[in-house]
Amino acid sequence: MANKKIVVIGTGYVGLPLAIMLARAGHQVIGVDIEENVVNAINEGVLPFAEEDVRKVFQETDVRKNLRGQRVPCEADVFIISVPTPLEDKKRIADLSYVVEGLKSIIPFLRRGNLVIIESTVPPLTCRQVVAPIIEQSGLKVGQDIFLCHCPERILPGDTFKEIVYNDRLIGGVDPRSADMAREVYSSFVEGKLYITDDISAELAKLMENTYRDVNIALANEFAAVADGLGVDIMHAIGLANKHPRVNILQPGIGTGGHCIPKDPWLIKQVDPVNSRLIYTARLINDEIPFKIAAKIRHALREIPSPRIVALGVTYKPDTYDMRNSPALKIIDLLVQDGYQVQPYDPLARNYRWGPIKELARDADCLVALVEHRVIKEELARDEAAIKKAMRHPRILRFYQYPGGA
Ligand SMILES: NC(=O)c1ccc[n+]([C@@H]2O[C@H](COP(=O)([O-])OP(=O)(O)OC[C@H]3O[C@@H](n4cnc5c(N)ncnc54)[C@H](O)[C@@H]3O)[C@@H](O)[C@H]2O)c1
Repeated sequence: MANKKIVVIGTGYVGLPLAIMLARAGHQVIGVDIEENVVNAINEGVLPFAEEDVRKVFQETDVRKNLRGQRVPCEADVFIISVPTPLEDKKRIADLSYVVEGLKSIIPFLRRGNLVIIESTVPPLTCRQVVAPIIEQSGLKVGQDIFLCHCPERILPGDTFKEIVYNDRLIGGVDPRSADMAREVYSSFVEGKLYITDDISAELAKLMENTYRDVNIALANEFAAVADGLGVDIMHAIGLANKHPRVNILQPGIGTGGHCIPKDPWLIKQVDPVNSRLIYTARLINDEIPFKIAAKIRHALREIPSPRIVALGVTYKPDTYDMRNSPALKIIDLLVQDGYQVQPYDPLARNYRWGPIKELARDADCLVALVEHRVIKEELARDEAAIKKAMRHPRILRFYQYPGGA
C-alpha cells in the first residue's frame, strides 16, 4: 500500500505500540498525547512500559525516523483514536469524555477523504451516535467526505508485540468504503486475519470477548465456593469435569483485574440492562472475590497475634507487569485496613521489586502467594527450605494450584 500520514491520538498501552508498528511499516506517524512526558518519551525513544520486544522495534532506525510525538494533532490521511474509556465510578457506564476531546482536537485538521478509526473500547452505537455527529461539526459528511471505522484492540499487555502483529482483528466500517480503507492500514503490519464487518457488530463483539471471559471466570469462582463448602479440592474437580470433550471450565482465582475484563461487561449492560442479568451477576461475583480471599487469610491467621504477612505478586494476573485493577492490591489493601502488617513483593512490578523472598520472609508469620508468576514459583521451589527456616511461623498460603503445579 502507499504509505500514509497517520496521527494516533493517545499513545498509552494501546496507542504507542500501534504507532510504533505503523512507523515500522513505513507510514509517517505522529503520536499525539496531552501528557508532555509521554510526548517527550516518544521523541527520545523511551518505552514507558516493560515490553522488551516492543522496545527493540522502537529502536529500529526506520521507526525512529518515521515516528514523532506532539502535543497537538496536525493534518493527516488517517486519524486513530486510542484514548482511555474508563468507567464512570457510580453509574458504571463508559466515560466517553476522552474520546470526545480527542475527536474535537482533530476537527480543525480533517480534510475530505480522511479516515477516522476508533480503537478505544466503546459501548455499541458510539460510532454512529457520538463519533459521527462530532466529526460532522467539521462540515464534512461521514460516509461521503470522511470515512469512519471501529477497529477494537485485543492486545494483552506483557505480550503486546506478538498480539498486535499476529492476532486476528475486526474492521467495523460504517460503510464498505470505510472498512476497505481501514483494512489497507492494518494489513500493512497485521499478520493475523482481518474480518470486515459493520461498526456496531465490531463494538459489540469486542465487549462480548471480555464478557465471555468474565462470566466464565465467575462460574469457576462459584464452583470453587461450592467445592469449598463440600470440602472438595476445586482444582481436582475441574480437572475431572474438563475430561468431558465439550467442557472447558476456566480457573478460579483471587478476582479479575486488568484494564478490560472488569470494565467491558458494564458497557453491554449500559446499552441493554434488561438482557444483561447474567453479565451483571458475574461482575458482582468477581468483584466480591478479593473480599473472600482476604477473609480466608484472616481466618488462617486468627490464632497469631499481630501477624506479619509477606504478599507475593501484586499484578492483576501472573507473568505480567500490569497492576491496573489488580485484585492482589485490593486484598493487600483490605488486610492493611484491618491493621495487618503486609509486605508486598513482586519481581515484575515497578516499585515492588525488593527481595529475595527468603530475606523478606525473616520473622514473617505467613507468605501469601497471591499472583504466582513463573519466577515466583521458581523462587519458592528453589528456596522453600530457607524461606520456611527464616519465618517465625512457616505458613505458605497458595490459592487454586493445579494438581502437580509448583
Ligand atoms: N491496555 C489494554 O490492554 C487494552 C486492550 C484493549 C483495548 N484497550 C482500550 O484501548 C483504549 C486505550 O487504552 P490504554 O490502555 O492505551 O490507555 P492508556 O491510559 O494507557 O493511554 C491513553 C493515553 O491517551 C492520552 N490521552 C487522553 N486524552 C487525550 C487526548 N484528548 N488527546 C491525546 N491524548 C490523550 C493519555 O494521556 C494516555 O497517554 C481504552 O479504550 C481501552 O479500553 C486497552
